[in-house]
Amino acid sequence: MTKPIVAPGLEGVIAGSTRLSRVDGLAGELIIAGYPLEEIAANASFEETTYLLWNDKLPNATELAEFRNSLAKLRTLPDATLNLLRAVAREEAPTMDALRMAAGTLSLGGVEGDADEAAALVARFPTVVAAYWRLLNGEEPVAPDPKLGHAANYLYMLNGEVPSAAQARGVETYLNTVIDHSFNASTFTARVITATASDLVSAITGAVGALKGPLHGGAPGPALDMVFEIGQADKAESYLRAKLERGERLMGFGHRVYKVRDPRADVLSAAAAKMYRADGDMQLYDLARAVEEKAVALLEEYKPGRNLQTNVEFYTALLLHGLGLETALFTPTFAVGRVAGWTAHCLEQRAEGRLIRPGSDYHGGLGRTWSSVAERGN
Ligand code: COA
Repeated sequence: MTKPIVAPGLEGVIAGSTRLSRVDGLAGELIIAGYPLEEIAANASFEETTYLLWNDKLPNATELAEFRNSLAKLRTLPDATLNLLRAVAREEAPTMDALRMAAGTLSLGGVEGDADEAAALVARFPTVVAAYWRLLNGEEPVAPDPKLGHAANYLYMLNGEVPSAAQARGVETYLNTVIDHSFNASTFTARVITATASDLVSAITGAVGALKGPLHGGAPGPALDMVFEIGQADKAESYLRAKLERGERLMGFGHRVYKVRDPRADVLSAAAAKMYRADGDMQLYDLARAVEEKAVALLEEYKPGRNLQTNVEFYTALLLHGLGLETALFTPTFAVGRVAGWTAHCLEQRAEGRLIRPGSDYHGGLGRTWSSVAERGN
């Protein structure tokens, strides 16, 4: 038997094709349905980017208005979802756990078929996260406002105040930036589930589980904590060196695909700079830049040739913090953006209809023979 090629992390394996996004890890480029990320992220509304992914074209004015309305109408949660969130909040579970539990209920309320499920998931994820966050903090959920756009309404439901135009643009740019990223772990999870001919709600619930892990979507909180712990630019080197000496990973750096700076880091860094400048306080932003510079240099010293560069999470932390979001909301907010990409991949996978089932290299024992419990002793 010829020795199979085993790729435990599937590096270098092309597991399918997609028209949704292209990641070029060596050039540091991200294409979203034909558009460079830099073109889309800071210009489009989240509804426009979602429409683009689902329909492979940007909507005209009428299509956009209809699409916005149709999503806005779906924002309200089924009673069962809200009751669940109330019960979970009493146990003070982390928000990603609550989102995972609630995601599974989002097929309720007359939602039927792939298109309905995709729309309900995208429309309701912000409502779930915001309602749960408020319940967790002893406050009543704020009902969605259909007059506000998707991104602005998310901040409104979190804070109970209509955000400024700059804040709404900041969160919109963030949601667009993370909306899709080819076959990342959570997206692949969603595609694997869809490929069994299961439903979109099941696929997205699985994807939330994958995103929760610190090696995927869980890094921005720790990345920001690190910047706060460092506190002053001249303390960065000793702090980071000590971490690397202990064999710890620096959160917000390194990527499976990007071997240059993650293009999303640039987009988010620009958005964060704009926001901090508007607030008139660049101190944290400047500190983060200094930490980044030192971290990249030290990673090259400790892991030469690995090309460990800044990833999306580092500036996610800075931008979302600037928007007033607490670190525990960073990964759930990532999910609020990525759910549009997940659903687009599910729809694409559905059209393909091929079960995903890789092989494996068996390295267990051979030739064993059965013995009864009595024969096996204690
Ligand atoms: N800090 C320190 N060392 C790191 C590192 C980091 N952030 N990222 C990778 N490395 C090291 C690994 O320890 C490994 O060293 P070794 O070969 O001496 O054992 C080497 O670099 C290669 O890493 P590898 O584990 O093969 O990379 P990967 O492709 O599996 O991992 C990540 C990619 C993202 C999981 C990894 O870079 C990481 O853990 N980063 C921090 C978490 C993070 O920011 N995640 C968000 C990603 S968007």
